[in-house]
Amino acid sequence: MSSPAIMPLHKAETHEAPLLSATGLTKIFTTGGKEFRAVDDVSLDIRSGKVLGIVGESGSGKSTVARLVMRLIEPTSGTVLFDGEELTSKSGEALRLMRRHMQIVFQNPHSALNPRDTIRDAIAEPFLVQTKIRGLELERRVDALLDIVSLPKSFRYRYPHELSGGQKQRICIARAVALEPRLLVLDEPTSALDVSVQAQIITFLQELRQRLNLTYLFISHNLAVVRHLCDEVIVMNRGKVLERGITETVFKVPENAYTRQLIESVPRLPRLEI
Ligand SMILES: Nc1ncnc2c1ncn2[C@@H]1O[C@H](COP(=O)(O)OP(=O)(O)OP(=O)(O)O)[C@@H](O)[C@H]1O
Ligand SMILES: [Mg+2]
Repeated sequence: MSSPAIMPLHKAETHEAPLLSATGLTKIFTTGGKEFRAVDDVSLDIRSGKVLGIVGESGSGKSTVARLVMRLIEPTSGTVLFDGEELTSKSGEALRLMRRHMQIVFQNPHSALNPRDTIRDAIAEPFLVQTKIRGLELERRVDALLDIVSLPKSFRYRYPHELSGGQKQRICIARAVALEPRLLVLDEPTSALDVSVQAQIITFLQELRQRLNLTYLFISHNLAVVRHLCDEVIVMNRGKVLERGITETVFKVPENAYTRQLIESVPRLPRLEI
């Protein structure tokens, strides 16, 4: 008889409804009376626990997709479902409650932290804004989050300028995961950091995802990082999705000429050594 202990944890995973599902997302910006289609009919799905990458040259619409998915900006058309619930129709308290489950980490940790706040204050903020957790319990949570991002508790007394770039990004990640979100949108989370620190953060993000059972939408210029981290990938160009698929397949046998160019434009693309 087979033991229940070896039952797969994620049964019927391929039939699971996606955690995040965007359909027909379009964003037209109007500047100086001219319309510009920054995102054009983009659809994507991410299943729980998976990592979806978005690659594409600068200006192709990646960050706009991230902002649309988070509903930091309103789409011109299209819908976003989070865990089966339509995010695009929510507002006020309902939207605020949903936002707890999805968080975004931006490219530049240097501008993401208030220079006048201690690290303790930076990490405590999401609890103060979104929860009733206070006092000793709050301090315990701050310490636990420092621990999760592998920084010593003594860092709570420091200011952002007393941290390295990689350490600051860890603090941004600690803030993002403070309220136990299910989805993290990572918009070029390592591109402001130097190469050795990039690798550390990528390894750390991988461990964190497993530890906290997170789902990632991971945006990056760095194809080596995307290849290393993402289960599936979307290739964008001029606001449109040109190609999508299992990461290894897209990298090994790209169907689209633009994807081939993108991959070939990275000289001798190495597998990221981590
Ligand atoms: N608020 C805005 N108003 C007008 N145009 C915008 C706005 N935000 C973005 N755009 C334009 O939309 C296009 C897509 O921008 P986006 O930031 O999504 O690109 P990206 O793929 O993230 O680029 P990068 O790799 O450089 O971060 C760009 O041409 C940009 O200039
Ligand atoms: Mg961007």
